[in-house]
Amino acid sequence: MSAVLQVKDLRKTFRLGAESVHALDGVSLDVPAGEFLVIMGASGSGKSTLLHLIGGLDLPTSGEILIEGQDIAAMSDRKRTMLRRSRLGVVFQNFNLLPTLTAIENVALPSLIGGGNNGSAQTVAKELLESVDMNHRMQHRPQALSGGEQQRVAIARALLNDPALLLADEPTGNLDSHHAESIWTLLRKLVDEQQRTVIAVTHEPIGARFADRIVVLKDGKIVGTINDSRNLDATLVATRYTELAR
Ligand SMILES: Nc1ncnc2c1ncn2[C@@H]1O[C@H](COP(=O)(O)OP(=O)(O)O)[C@@H](O)[C@H]1O
Ligand SMILES: [Mg+2]
Repeated sequence: MSAVLQVKDLRKTFRLGAESVHALDGVSLDVPAGEFLVIMGASGSGKSTLLHLIGGLDLPTSGEILIEGQDIAAMSDRKRTMLRRSRLGVVFQNFNLLPTLTAIENVALPSLIGGGNNGSAQTVAKELLESVDMNHRMQHRPQALSGGEQQRVAIARALLNDPALLLADEPTGNLDSHHAESIWTLLRKLVDEQQRTVIAVTHEPIGARFADRIVVLKDGKIVGTINDSRNLDATLVATRYTELAR
């Protein structure tokens, strides 16, 4: 009933000169509140395109993207920017932290840009950093943090506006396996303990097995779904994924 996200027959075609690339070729998807969804697929299958469209960072060629019932693809640029800032949080592979700011300043910055009060922004930023287990590193700059710690800061920053949806594109793509596992554990915790709704893109079965559901993309289409991912180990996820993506 309470779908945070409804994607309907989404298509995105990139034109490069005379060539057309159908990056998304009719994707439909519902994500209920409180779900941890992982999108898997080979390089070039359309994962980032899908996440960018859901995040309002790009516009589809056709189709609908309803965030809490509002079509982010059909609204004005101004409304889309407002919706993106207030209801969506996005995390990238490269963390995208500002190098000259401390962890707490990085987390508080979006609120300050949005005209928020400095004291309350710092208070919320501190609570968020505690919730991602970064209480001991709040005054550190990114270069003094490990990749895993930097991604925790980026996740805290993405949660600042209490988003309806947290989107993560290959959040562990730059991390070693130990730090990667700790980030997947954190995303799972955010869903279980804070009732967040998370959509993460990965091609790593190790991470995908933390999801409630895995959707497999191939050539811009959903070719299969794994509904029992939490009962599977990484080897079984890899086997099932390979069968679906073949
Ligand atoms: N801005 C763009 N211009 C042209 N082609 C693009 C653009 N972005 C993505 N593509 C193409 O769309 C397809 C899907 O890309 P992408 O969504 O980045 O895949 P993934 O994230 O799964 O690796 C690829 O063939 C890619 O080359
Ligand atoms: Mg990608």
